[in-house]
Formats: sequence, structure tokens, C-alpha cells
Amino acid sequence: MTVIRHLLVSFVLIGTALTAPAQESNKVNLSVDVSRAGARIDRNIFGQFAEHLGHGVYEGIWVGPDSSIPNTRGIRNDVVTALKAIKVPNVRWPGGCFADEYHWRKGIGRERVVTLNPNWGGVVEPNTFGTHEFLDFLDQIGAEAYLSINVGSGTPQEAAEWLEYLTTPQQTTLGKERAANGHPAPYKIAYLGIGNESWDCGGNMTPDYYLSQLKIYSRFVRNFNPAQQGQQQMLKIAVGPGGDEPRFIEWTESVMKAWQNRKWSWDMQGLSMHNYTVVHWDKKLVSVGFDETEYSQFLRATLDMEGLVGRYSVIMDKYDPQKKIALVVDEWGSWYTPLPGSNPGFLVQQNSLRDAILAALNLNIFARHADRVRMANIAQMINVLQAMIMTDTEKMVLTPTYYVYKMYVPFQEASFVPVTFNGGTYSRGDVSLPRVDAIAARDAAGKLWLEITNLDPNQPLEVEATVAGINAKSAAGETLTAPRVDSVNTFAAPDAVVPKAIAAKVKGGRLTLNLEPKSVTVVSVEH
Ligand code: AHR
Repeated sequence: MTVIRHLLVSFVLIGTALTAPAQESNKVNLSVDVSRAGARIDRNIFGQFAEHLGHGVYEGIWVGPDSSIPNTRGIRNDVVTALKAIKVPNVRWPGGCFADEYHWRKGIGRERVVTLNPNWGGVVEPNTFGTHEFLDFLDQIGAEAYLSINVGSGTPQEAAEWLEYLTTPQQTTLGKERAANGHPAPYKIAYLGIGNESWDCGGNMTPDYYLSQLKIYSRFVRNFNPAQQGQQQMLKIAVGPGGDEPRFIEWTESVMKAWQNRKWSWDMQGLSMHNYTVVHWDKKLVSVGFDETEYSQFLRATLDMEGLVGRYSVIMDKYDPQKKIALVVDEWGSWYTPLPGSNPGFLVQQNSLRDAILAALNLNIFARHADRVRMANIAQMINVLQAMIMTDTEKMVLTPTYYVYKMYVPFQEASFVPVTFNGGTYSRGDVSLPRVDAIAARDAAGKLWLEITNLDPNQPLEVEATVAGINAKSAAGETLTAPRVDSVNTFAAPDAVVPKAIAAKVKGGRLTLNLEPKSVTVVSVEH
């Protein structure tokens, strides 16, 4: 009997050895040469997106001045404090699809016009959060405005009047109306999006039809703020691709070619790109309660961002070799099936450790393409899709993605430094992923910052980094991980996924660091 059991155990062990993937060494060599600093990482790649969708604006930002939730002029204080800590550079508003049905006059003045939000749940839109409230919110968090104007159901005149209302210093009727509504000084509008997904929800336009609109809006929607002329001009962002289908290649070619052959009367400085991580649009994955297989599938899908950015950069290089036009990835992030019990039109999902890793991978892709990708906006800031913050009436919780944005603050405006590494592969079923991702950058004070992601959910890694170009003396930073790939922060347990301190050893210009499985780590190197 004992012999039989022994034989069975042996067979099982042999079977395991034959089927288990070969174990990779858990040592990773990484090298950084600080003397080779490249493009500046534009802080605008850490931009946010707030659409009138679900509780993204109402409750997420706006509770109204009479609310028992602590607020400043109707804008909730806890949210403002949290957003200030991640140094949000810009916020895109009011949509999304909502922008192409938004009529700004309904959201100014004492009496607001109550409308509907047909795109997102068909709910009532009170218009209590309008132009002034948005700009007050930006003022409170210290971010720039990225206004998306209505090209779908609006007119060039309506958009032109909005910009005159916002920016003229003169005593025009619109300028006086702005002053009467509480803001005598002209507002600064840093970025202007001309349409949203005009190939689909923004009007299902052909490239030629959109181009004729783009030229008209670009010509007539003027910014009159004296502080925003010449070099300081408002940057206009045209609608670009939404994936890798042939129609998006054609769209991008058409817009870029038209720009190359443009006349003096119109211009643009950015081309938008949208790309969500989904896996299957018609059978979306769940945001919590998933296993390692779905973890790996989803991260595999998110890495498609690299190919897309590369493909559209090549097209843009053809018509704009001097890289004057920024590729603006103004909608990206995870899109899962809505949480059970939520309004499906509100796009409510959980935000797990997997989303944190996904955010790091995408931010690293943008940083590696810093010469072309100069702005990006994760969708969306609060309570919608891959949010930074979730609220439930007076309660607020910060998501794992929020903490990645916080850890990446030092990369804002730092100079990209190339990193090479031999991370090996992590495999699960038929999915293979690079086990490691990393970026490095040098900040204005000369300090080196290193981000290393360990995608492998099972293996810790020992990283040995050679740092050339500086005399590295010490290194320390923070790491974000959690017990499970689908660990989340909840109102009851808000600190399940929060960064913790990590130390590195530095000796003879070599830095060694132990990374936990499924972790995002940022360290600074003193020299
Ligand atoms: O972010 C949600 C929606 O996704 C946006 O409104 C739209 O632009 C995109 O399709």
C-alpha cells in the first residue's frame, strides 16, 4: 500500500514537472545611463477626464453649497484635497459623448435649464455644474481647462460665443454677462477639443465631413484672453483615431494630410486618440472577483497601447516630422462590465491592484513616447470607469490607480532616461507577458527616478540596476502591492492597497532592490 502511494506521488510529481512552465530566474538586471536623458515627460500625460456621466460630476465633484458634505462653493473638499495631492495638470470636460449634446448657456446664470442626459442612463441633467463651477473646481485643484466643444449638435457660432464669453477682457455683451455671473477677469482655457469621437457618437462623420467642420471651428472659435496669444496660445485638439481599424488609419491619414496642406486660416496642435482596455466589447470582463487568467488576459490587452501609439506616431511623422502636433490620448483606461445593481449607463466598476498595474504600464508607454505623446486623460476621474476616487454620498475612497498617480508625481516634467532590462516572461495559459516593465527619468533638480513594475503575480524579483552617469549613493521609495490580483480599497477597508516604503541597497554604483509579486515601485536615487 505504502509502495503504491509512493508510486502515485512520484507520478504526480513527474506530471507536475512536465506540465509546469520552466521557472525563470528571479534576478533581473537593469541598466540606466543618466547622461542619455531624452524628451521631457509632459505633465499633461497625467491629465484627467470628468464627463457628465453617472456620479462623475454630480456627487463626485458637485454636491451644491447647501450640502451637509463639506464643500467650497458646492465643490466637495475631500475630493479637492485628494486631487491636489496628485497634481492634476488638466481636466477634460464636459465629455465625451455628452460634449456633443452640451449647450453651455443652459449651465450659466442664476436659473439653470434642466435637460436630459440621453447618452448616459437618460437621467435628468440639472446643469447646476456648468462653466463657472467647472472653472472654480479647476482653480481649487490647480489644474488647466481642457474644454471639449459641441461639434455634433451645436454650431460654430455657439462655440465661438462660449469662448468669447470665457476669454474676452472687453466690455462686450458676453464679457459683461460673465462679469455679472461673478468672474470679471477673463478665464484661461488652455486646451480646446474640437469634437469627440466624431466618427461615432459625435455624429458618425466621414473624415472629409469632419475636416470641413474642423477647419470652420478652428477658424472661428477664438480665444481672446490677452495672456493667451502667440506662444501662450490655446492648443486646439482635433479628433483622431479610436483603435486600429482601417477606418481609423484612413481618418488619421486624412486629418494629418489636410493639416500638412493647411492654409493660414486654420490650425491644430494636437490629435486625439481613444483606446480602452476591454478584451471583448460584447462580453466585458468583471472588475473584481477575477482570477489569474483574467488578470493576465487583461494586462495582455492593455499592452496593445504600445502598438497603437507606435502606429499612429509613424503616420504623424510622415506629415509632421518636426512633431509639432501632439498625440493626445484623451480617453484610456479599463472598461469592465458594470457592477451588479448599478445603473448600466453609469459605467460603475471596481478598481483593483490589476488596474494599478495597468495604469503604470500605460503611463510608461506614454513616457517612452514622450516626444509625441504630450497629453493623456484617463477615463474617468471619479466614480466612472478607471477612477481615481470613488464616493458614496459623504464617503470617499482612493483607488489603487490613484496611488499610482501619486507615486508618479516626480515624473511630471522630468526628462526621460532610457532603461534596458532582461525581465524574462511571465506566462499563464496561452498568455505570455513581459515579466517586468520599467522607466527612468531625471527631474529638474537632477535626481534620478526609477519605476519598476513586476507583472508576475507569483514571483518576487531581485533587481540589480547599474546606474551610469551619476555616483549613486542611496535609493528609497514606495511600492504598491496587495495580497490578491483583485484586491480593492472599499469604504470599509480603504487601506487594503496603499503604497508602503521600500529601501534599496546601493554599492559601487549598483542598486539592488527586492520587488514583491504584482507590484508597482518608484524609487529615487540620491547621488
Ligand atoms: O468615457 C466614456 C465614453 O467613452 C465617452 O463619453 C466616449 O467618448 C467614449 O466612447
